[in-house]
This record gives sequence, C-alpha cells and structure tokens, in this order.
Amino acid sequence: MQESMKEMSPEATTTGKSYTAQVIRDGQQYLMQNYAQLPLVLVRGQGARVWDAEGRSYLDCVGGIAVNSVGHCHPRVVAAIREQAEQLIHCSNLYWSPQSVTLAKRLVQLSGLDRAFFCNSGTEANEAAIKLVRKYASLHGQEQPEIISFTTSFHGRTLGALTATAQPKFWQGFEPLPGGFVHLPFKDVDALRAAINPQTVAIFIEPVQGEGGVNEATAEFMQALARVREEHGVLLVCDEVQCGLGRTGKMFAFEHYGVQPDVMTLAKALGGGLPIGALLARQEVATVFQPGTHGSTFGGNPVACAAALAVLDVMEQEDLSANAGQIGNHLMLKLRELQAQFPFIKEVRGLGLLVGMELEYTGPTALAPGAGKQVVALCQENGLLINCTADSVIRFIPPLTITRDEADEAVGILKTALQQIAGKVQG
Ligand SMILES: Cc1ncc(COP(=O)(O)O)c(C=O)c1O
Repeated sequence: MQESMKEMSPEATTTGKSYTAQVIRDGQQYLMQNYAQLPLVLVRGQGARVWDAEGRSYLDCVGGIAVNSVGHCHPRVVAAIREQAEQLIHCSNLYWSPQSVTLAKRLVQLSGLDRAFFCNSGTEANEAAIKLVRKYASLHGQEQPEIISFTTSFHGRTLGALTATAQPKFWQGFEPLPGGFVHLPFKDVDALRAAINPQTVAIFIEPVQGEGGVNEATAEFMQALARVREEHGVLLVCDEVQCGLGRTGKMFAFEHYGVQPDVMTLAKALGGGLPIGALLARQEVATVFQPGTHGSTFGGNPVACAAALAVLDVMEQEDLSANAGQIGNHLMLKLRELQAQFPFIKEVRGLGLLVGMELEYTGPTALAPGAGKQVVALCQENGLLINCTADSVIRFIPPLTITRDEADEAVGILKTALQQIAGKVQG
C-alpha cells in the first residue's frame, strides 16, 4: 500500500465506508446519470492532493480536468473568495463591479487582446465566440457564415459549441445541429486551403487539443492558419479553455507558435475552481457586441472574478508557467522510460503539464480496448487520480504546482498499474 493511502483525514472518523455508499446510492437515484462516475467520494483537497470520505489521500493528476492549476484550496484564492463573499457576492451587469473590470484589464494586458466578456464556463465562452464572429461577419455583409473547426477538437456541449466540436460521437441524438460549421482534418494545411471560401468567417482551434487525446498543433499548421487569416480576412479563434493559463509552459499556448489570435476563450483554471469563462477579442471584433447583443446573469460575478485575480497573482508569484514547462518535460522523460519498458505504450506526447500517454489497442503488442479504464482504476487503488481520454490516452493534467517528487510518485504508481496489466496480458 502507498504511504499516502495510510493518511487519515479528520473527516474519516466521522464518515467512512457507509457514508461513501450512501452518497453514491443517493447520487445514483437523484442526479441525472450523465457522468460515468468512479466509486469515489472526494471531501477535501490541498495542493496536489485530495482526500476521499474514507480518509484515503490521492495524488491528483486530474486536477478537476485542468481546473485546479494553482493547487487545491490555495490559501490566497481561499482568502480572496472569503473576503469578496463578505463584501458582495453578486451584482447584476446592469452595474459596474470593480473585480470584473480589474480582471478584464489583467487579461487584456496578459493576452495582447483588447476587451473581455465574462461568462461561467468554457462552453459558454465558445458559444459567445461563435456569436461574436457571426455578428462580426453579419456586419461585414456575410449572411451565410461558415466556421471551420478540426477533427478531434472539443469546444463544449451547448448546440453551437457542440457542433464546432468535430467529433460525431458527441452529436448523436442531438440533431438537428445548427448549420454553418465545417470540419476539417487537424493539421492538414492542404485541406484547409481547399476548404476556405468567401463564406468562411472564422477558424476555431485548440492549439493543444485536450479531450481529443492531447494532440498538439504543429508550428507549421499554426503559421498556415495565420497566413490564411491574412489572405482571406477570416478570424482566428484560439480555444485555450484547457491549454491556456500557464498549462503548456507559457501563459497562453498560442505563444509557442508566434501566432496571435483575434479571439480567445478561457475557463477551467481561471477561477481556481469557481465557475468563470472569458472571451477575449481584439478591438475591432470585440466592439460588435453592443448592449443587448449578448449577456449572462452571472458573468463577471465578483466572487469568481476575485478568485481569478488571486489565481493570476499566484501564477505570477510562483512562476507556475515555468514550473509547468520544467515538470512537464521531466514527466515526459519519465513516461518515455516507461514506454521503453512496456511495448503497449504507443506514444508519449504533450506540452508542459498537458501530457498524454497513448495505449496501443491494435497490433501484436496491443492491450484490449478498455485497458485505459483499467489503468485508471488500478492507479486509483494505489493512490493516484489520473484520467483516460479519447478511449486510449492516459492524460496528466495536474495542478501546475506539482513538484518533481510528486511527478515521480505519479509515474511510480502508474508503473505499478502497468506492471499489473502486463502481468495479466502475459498470464
Ligand atoms: C478545449 C475545451 N473547450 C471547451 C470546453 C468546455 O468547457 P466547460 O466544460 O467548462 O463548458 C472544454 C472542456 O473540457 C475544453 O477542454
């Protein structure tokens, strides 16, 4: 048993197995069953660790799916939330609130874009981006706008963002989908050039795809997008909901390619765990949103914005982009050592602390499809939370505060799980 598994949280004595079972039973009865939830009830978090209701601790390499970038319950974020909650929890966008204005200014300074709109999630930020580029196109006389997005992308779950998400498995049962979206193979410059036409108004791209299996755009592809933008006057929209805010080793992933977007979306890590999304755009595009064109009751909520300001402070003070770059490189090195030992590891890839290890499901060294889920379950048993995306990609998206020792610990637990799986394959 891992040393960390023996640690008991204070809650454990008053909760335990029966509490866990009760929460799961009630959850199965009263919540819509739209998540494939693991049998784990989490009650506490600190730094890169979380505790379940039975007192076991886990090293958290899921991080709320790239949300807990400054670590769980960072004291500075907790203090900012507490202080703001005591002052003003909500104020309508009929009025100004200092926190949203300050946050907009901060994000503008960081991104090189000119204005921000706040909402409550990544999906909402992308939905707003779709409306923004359509409005911009409409004001330029384009009434049949087309938006290009790429295979294996993920942009969210509302109908517009879902249609931009070029993965048919997410569409099933939700048709008819809105028109005006064109899906192209990721990283294929020729396909892009062939598809561009006078109706094309915008290109949506995750510079590093997260949900689709940790797929990084090439510099060549990003630069081709920038050239196409210049030649055809289309807008470049970077969805940095998952890969933004320090995760890849730079504040924004687009910085790796020297390509500045016209529009960018953020969410996940921004609020340190509180729901907030942001849409940023350069001046000429941003100003097409006028009173009444778009809005959100909760968007720019003072508590969420205060948390986000604290998150940005922590990122800067603790130099978390740099840590993400360094620990990410170390982690990938360690995972490549595993790759040399386990023939069913197909590829290790990623940027900063958005890292994927793809399992082989075909050919002579293949694991049975579904092995990813087994790896996740075995790691969990041994004190590591990790996630498998796109069926076969074991994904590391830990807090950016993670240390080298913690990264080594994660690799050690993963190695044990892989040995157990290899044993079964041979047995
Ligand atoms: C790149 C990207 N865009 C958008 C979304 C949707 O964000 P949310 O779940 O906050 O709506 C996600 C979520 O995983 C994402 O990874």
